[in-house]
Amino acid sequence: DEAAEQAAFGAIIEADSRIEPRDWMPAAYRKTLIRQISQHAHSEIIGMQPEGNWISRAPSLKRKAILMAKVQDEAGHGLYLYSAAQTLGITRDEMTEQLIEGRARYSSIFNYPTPTWADMGAIGWLVDGAAICNQVPLCRASYGPYGRAMVRVCKEESFHQRQGFEILLTLMQGSPAQREMAQDAVNRWYWPSLMMFGPPDDESPNSAQSMAWKIKRFSNDDLRQRFIGMLVPQAEVLGVTLPDPELRWDDEAQRWHTSEIDWTEFHEVLAGRGPMNVERIRNRRNAHDDGAWVREAAAEYARKQNEKAVA
Ligand code: ACO
Repeated sequence: DEAAEQAAFGAIIEADSRIEPRDWMPAAYRKTLIRQISQHAHSEIIGMQPEGNWISRAPSLKRKAILMAKVQDEAGHGLYLYSAAQTLGITRDEMTEQLIEGRARYSSIFNYPTPTWADMGAIGWLVDGAAICNQVPLCRASYGPYGRAMVRVCKEESFHQRQGFEILLTLMQGSPAQREMAQDAVNRWYWPSLMMFGPPDDESPNSAQSMAWKIKRFSNDDLRQRFIGMLVPQAEVLGVTLPDPELRWDDEAQRWHTSEIDWTEFHEVLAGRGPMNVERIRNRRNAHDDGAWVREAAAEYARKQNEKAVA
């Protein structure tokens, strides 16, 4: 009965063990996982666009090969994550529909433009750096398929972060104009990368329950703090300045003191009014429409193979 199922579920969570697709789970647990995993998958897929923008203009053959591989990795992450979400009883078609109709969330960060090559460095260093901070604890998420997907995703993200760091390092060792371009990109991506971790803890409606279920292991603010702590020494090596005059370690509070994050900007982007929201969804919808013939051909091929098997 339901009470016994609930107790068994609670015991698995308590023991830090894993819930698997065929296990009983509370409806709300299933729902929040579908929510988070599908948003995460959409982020990976939409996240291909800001960098895809530079593949044809990368400054050398080597840079182009690296960038192409990175964007392909993101497609792979999206596909693992859609598969993980499908184990919970939603179809990929449903998720895709929600995305192209503008009803689904994906990370705020992918609604910012990439006007210069240095943006490829800043995205790798800051955006993929934030993604790692957020996703390493998700490797221990209580839902098996999600946690396991995160292991490989994190390995690839850590390569992405290093390639971004290396792009910035190269620019910072270049001409004054190149150094300026690198600093400008860091200025534009720093604050949005801090927003990736989500609203402050006291305004995060999902955190308490997700932490009790051991989907999330750390709060939004704790991960944001950890990320800043990772960036500070790396910024020094790069020779870039993090664009926050208030930033300093507060020994008494044992935390980083920062300027106020512009949460109005965050809420505007979530409401669909960021600089690139409309274009991101339009591109995704067009790509989906352009791919219709491939899906039809694949379905027709599968149907014929099936017929043969039956005959
Ligand atoms: N961008 C867009 N939406 C966000 C963001 C963000 N940066 N941060 C929070 N939100 C949304 C939440 O999805 C939630 O929306 P919903 O309730 O309508 O579904 C709402 O704001 C409130 O936030 P929280 O209660 O804090 O939500 P949650 O507990 O889900 O925490 C977080 C948000 C930290 C992003 C969590 O969902 C998570 O860890 N997701 C997995 C990682 C991920 O999605 N990364 C994507 C970017 S990294 C990359 O793809 C390279």
